[in-house]
Amino acid sequence: MRLLVTGGAGFIGANFVHSTVQERPAVAVTVLDVLTYAGSRESLRSVDDQIRLIEGDLVDESLVDTLVAECDAVVHFAAETHVDNALAGPAPFVRSNVVGTFSVLEAVRRHGVRLHHVSTDEVYGDLPLHGDERFTAQTPFNPSSPYSATKASADLLVRAWVRSYGVRATISNCSNNYGPYQHIEKFIPRQITNVLTGRRPKLYGTGANVRDWIHVEDHNSAVWHILEGGVCGSTYLIGADGERDNLSVLQLILALMGRDADDFDHVPDRVGHDLRYAIDASALRAELGWTPKHTDLTEGLTSTIAWYRDNEWWWGPLKEQVEAGYTERGQ
Ligand code: NAD
Ligand code: TYD
Repeated sequence: MRLLVTGGAGFIGANFVHSTVQERPAVAVTVLDVLTYAGSRESLRSVDDQIRLIEGDLVDESLVDTLVAECDAVVHFAAETHVDNALAGPAPFVRSNVVGTFSVLEAVRRHGVRLHHVSTDEVYGDLPLHGDERFTAQTPFNPSSPYSATKASADLLVRAWVRSYGVRATISNCSNNYGPYQHIEKFIPRQITNVLTGRRPKLYGTGANVRDWIHVEDHNSAVWHILEGGVCGSTYLIGADGERDNLSVLQLILALMGRDADDFDHVPDRVGHDLRYAIDASALRAELGWTPKHTDLTEGLTSTIAWYRDNEWWWGPLKEQVEAGYTERGQ
């Protein structure tokens, strides 16, 4: 199989490329990535002689057309992904997430190529903090931020291209990921690298907001299940029953790193901060037989902390600048 992976130099895409190269040697991987601040050649360094990395933009229609014509399937990860950046400047989100997905869709339509579109549970908006309601594929879209609105727009384009043009596409909406190679602007790696550099972790508001954490390897194993066994036109929700409030995740990180439970700062809350996300992944489990492997958050965080401790070469050069940006926003 010749596989085109968009956004393969970002967090989830790079992990996907690593596991694919390791577990599926018959798959020829091409990565298309424009290498924004969030993408890095270094994330693919250990596999660079086993893949092809093309530095290019999703909105470059002729480049995307050429690459799609040469492949059997596309896994589309590439996007602008950070909510705080979307709030500060939404334009790149519309460009990459909406126009970029349109460009991929037109190319797969022209060449009859199978597409898997990677999306987020944030398209469904948020749930009340207390309660047991969870998102399913039937939950109506209700995005809150420019990030989630552009991802919902992309999902709708994919659905329309399936219905109108018979494009062979599946969609997945996953919950919050953690693991190696995640940009240190995001919650978990920001706090780990704050501790590692002698800074105090920063918690938005009271930390009551709930996220449904999944290890990136489990997300990617679900993507492979869908790519191989998913029904075109279907949407699959991916989650591993990992609901936790932000305060308790932060205090678990502090405990695992030998710090006191109150050794952090409260900083101003994010505007429009989604309260709670929770995924019901029973359809994916029942239909495609997928099960997550990393269901113990303490274990998953322990290995993630070890990865950041051992790989300062990867994140160290970014730290000052990322924190300077947060300081400017008062967070
Ligand atoms: P990331 O920000 O770490 O990586 C995104 C990658 O896309 C980067 O390498 C970047 O250079 C590339 N990219 C951005 N715009 C591009 C463009 N115009 N052309 C080519 N490449 C471009 O993101 P991530 O966390 O790895 O997320 C990957 C996908 O998974 C996204 O679609 C995101 O919406 C989805 N998702 C993420 C999470 C999460 O918790 N991180 C959860 C659910 C879904
Ligand atoms: P984030 O990793 O940005 O993911 P998302 O906004 O897509 O869920 O943030 C996860 C949660 O952590 C979110 O509720 C915001 C919160 N947060 C903090 O409390 N402190 C931080 O420094 C960051 C970056 C996020």
